Formats: sequence, structure tokens, C-alpha cells
Amino acid sequence: MEFKNINYQIEDGYALLTINRPDKLNALNLATFAELAQALLMIHKDESVSGVLLTGAGEKAFVAGADITEIQPLNLAEGKEFSAIGQRVFDTIEDFSKPVLALIDGFALGGGCELAMACHLRLATEKSRFGQPEVNLGLIPGYAGTQRLPRLIGRSAALELLLSGEMIDARRAYDLGLVNRVVHDKTELLESGKQMLRTITSKSPLSIKYILNLVNQGLNMPLNQAEELESTYFGMMCSSYDKQEGTAAFLEKRKPVFNGK
Ligand code: COA
Repeated sequence: MEFKNINYQIEDGYALLTINRPDKLNALNLATFAELAQALLMIHKDESVSGVLLTGAGEKAFVAGADITEIQPLNLAEGKEFSAIGQRVFDTIEDFSKPVLALIDGFALGGGCELAMACHLRLATEKSRFGQPEVNLGLIPGYAGTQRLPRLIGRSAALELLLSGEMIDARRAYDLGLVNRVVHDKTELLESGKQMLRTITSKSPLSIKYILNLVNQGLNMPLNQAEELESTYFGMMCSSYDKQEGTAAFLEKRKPVFNGK
């Protein structure tokens, strides 16, 4: 598949995915969603890739939302399907077994904020702006923004953003826990993203996969069921090569060599 709306590069064992519609501030249209889904499938199958950096092209935006020109003509049934398509792609990102980091430089609004929230971690430059401005358009968030935002920053702060439609800067987003790290500029953003990914991918790939799965699944379960799932996975780790290697390396005072098995 040839990509027209995204760039897809593999470098040093990670994938750099760039939403590439800078003239439209990387607004997410249906073609972009289809390409994103395809790229994620390719990354999932590619054993040489251990993590993903997701960013936006140009100087102004990560993603300025869903493409409003595509939303304008939608009727009831089409609107529901439009929302479900985006939700499916974002769920794929959240459920991805390899870490996905959002690198945000500029506007992350509406679907852009929702995309960032679906990623496992978020890094942003100081100039970045976040918000859910759908109320200004007579809309509501449709890519799980009403659900992920309160889960990430709590009900009170989420309602403030969702009901006011106002933007917040990167520092406030950091204070609220919406982003993990704020950096100076785009060069530092890419370097910090790569560094964070290197740290994560130097650990046991099996541990990383299970932790991502447990955190995502567990948040949607009663605590006792989530704990049972954690015990099951802990048992599975105990029968793994990575646990054998990691614990032996500690006791032998050497660096572990994990294989994700
Ligand atoms: N959907 C479609 N096109 C969009 C878009 C979106 N969500 N966001 C920006 N664009 C387009 C603009 O229409 C403009 O296209 P044009 O050059 O053909 O007129 C281009 O991107 C540049 O945007 P512009 O508004 O001129 O930039 P700005 O710097 O003046 O303002 C924003 C930047 C982000 C404040 C403004 O673009 C905006 O409010 N975008 C919509 C954000 C939003 O409501 N997102 C939720 C959508 S559900």
C-alpha cells in the first residue's frame, strides 16, 4: 500500500509514523485513518520493530482534529460510523503490544488530543496546545475523548476542557498529567522520544507487552478481576525465558539479554 497521508520510516528498530497533511494541520480524514490502520498492522507483524514514535508534519500541529470538511455532510448513521472508524484505529494504538509514544509539536486538538491520549506516553514541546474544541462546532468528541480524558486526568479537569472547549498550554497539560514530558523544541522532542523508547525497549519485551495489556484491560475491570489477571500474567512471566534470564543476570551481576520469550 502506498501512503499519501502519512510517512512511515523504520530506523534503529523503531517506526517513525508521521501524519503528513501539514496544509490542513494534519487533520484526520478517512484516508488517513485507513493508512494509519495499515501501517500499524505492518508494524505489528515486523519483528524488527520494537516501538513506535507517532508525530505530525510541519511546524504548527501534531493533529488539529478530525477533518471538519468530512464531518459537515454526515447524517445520523454516517456520523455513528465515522466515530466508530476512528475509535477502532485509536483502540488498536492503545492495545498495541509495542510501546507507542506521541511526539507533539503544536496543536493537539479534538481528534489530535484523542490520538495523543490513545498513545501510551506523550511528549510535547513548550509551544504545544491541547484541547477538545468540539463544543465550538456543535459537536462532541467522537474518538473516545469523553472517556479517555477523564480516565487520564480525572473527571473534574476533563469536564473543564470538554465543556469549555478552551485550549491549554503544554505546562498545564503536564501539570494535569496529560503529557509525560515537556521539551524545548522539535529537535529535542525527537531525541527525547528516541531516548525514552530506547529505555523501554532495553527491558524484557514480554514484560512490556504484559504491562501494556494489564494496564489497558485492568482499568476496565473490577479490581479483583484485574488482580486475578495480573496473577495469571505473573505466572506466565515465571515460566518465561526473560524471567529466567533477568533474575539470573541480577544474581550473576551482569546485564540481561532478553528475547521476549
Ligand atoms: N479539519 C479540516 N481542516 C482543518 C482543520 C480541521 N480540524 N484544522 C485546520 N484545518 C485547515 C484550515 O481549514 C486551513 O485550511 P485552508 O488553508 O484550506 O483554509 C488550514 O488547515 C490551516 O488552518 P488555519 O485555521 O488557517 O490555521 P490557524 O493557525 O489560523 O488556526 C487552529 C489554527 C488550530 C486554531 C484552527 O485551524 C482550528 O481551530 N482548527 C480546528 C480545530 C478543531 O475544532 N478541531 C476539532 C475538529 S472536530
